[in-house]
Amino acid sequence: MTALLDIHLTDADADVALRADALAGLTAQPKNLPPKWFYDARGSALFEQITQLPEYFPTRTERALLEHAADAIAITSGADTIVELGSGSSAKTRLLLDAFGRAESLRRYVPQDVSEPALREAMSALQADYPGLELHGVVGDFTAHLDRLPPEGHRMVAFLGGTIGNLLPPERAEFLRALRAALRPGEQFLLGTGLVVDPSLLVPAYDDAAGVTAEFNRNVLHVLNRELDADFDVDAFHHKAVWAAENEWIEMRLVAQRAMTVTLAGLDLTVEFAAGEEMCTEVSAKFRLPGIGAMLGEAGFSVVGSWTDPDERMALTLATAV
Ligand code: SAH
Ligand code: AVI
Repeated sequence: MTALLDIHLTDADADVALRADALAGLTAQPKNLPPKWFYDARGSALFEQITQLPEYFPTRTERALLEHAADAIAITSGADTIVELGSGSSAKTRLLLDAFGRAESLRRYVPQDVSEPALREAMSALQADYPGLELHGVVGDFTAHLDRLPPEGHRMVAFLGGTIGNLLPPERAEFLRALRAALRPGEQFLLGTGLVVDPSLLVPAYDDAAGVTAEFNRNVLHVLNRELDADFDVDAFHHKAVWAAENEWIEMRLVAQRAMTVTLAGLDLTVEFAAGEEMCTEVSAKFRLPGIGAMLGEAGFSVVGSWTDPDERMALTLATAV
């Protein structure tokens, strides 16, 4: 079957958005950069490596949960179209595609990701392995383009891996509002969330011994060097992961190892870093089960199913748009 690809985020759009985010984030106090800029081709490949690390439990835990729950999700949902936001490699999604196939409802898969190389690679693998499936990829930003999701079919929107935790609370509320507005009553949302667990387990998951997460974190500086003609000395920034108990999130930071003046020629901007200055590059919020239901309820969804692993590290929640 032929595959479609919609581009809602051209290179020119991404350039405008990166400039705005870099200017706002590097002139803010404290400095910050949004996590979506990790994911160029190298960043997406580094994330895939993270998912294989012994310390990074979310991916394998969610995979096991999906192995256990995918058939029940398919039967409860009855959707013929799986839309996935931030689909990346779509590796775990295959468990959903297989279960919806067994339930004989599946017709179409709509992966959406900000990273065009990751999306193209995932789609070509899926095309080979699921020849009867309609594939309709969307290069887009789930914080901006939900109103442009393909409308065809009875849709279940999957948002897996705990990626919702990478949105700050106001962005998360706006994301859920926009998602609900994009769906018709009766369509579904399948949300994968990381749960609050002991920081002694969480911190190593974001600061692995092999240093892959550190490379992933620093990758955002390579992106700025390449795209904005900046001169960050990438190795002069160290990776740090902190459990912020008051917000129940992991914060990834880049720490300047010495005082530095960085020029972003493409932005006509010079920024100063003090020795030891910390810049936040990602939050990864963890949730509690009652909070997930409340957050979905406030956004106009009604929970119809919920699954957790035996250690309650990850949750999958299926909700219907009311
Ligand atoms: N869902 C996969 C991948 C998670 S990694 C899993 O569970 O393993 C996060 C993915 O979201 C990456 O593929 C990244 O490119 C994508 N992403 C990050 N910010 C995004 C945004 N604002 N809009 C769309 N995709 C985004
Ligand atoms: C994509 N997202 C859910 C990952 C997370 O766990 O927050 C990104 C990541 N950051 C560091 N390691 C993985």
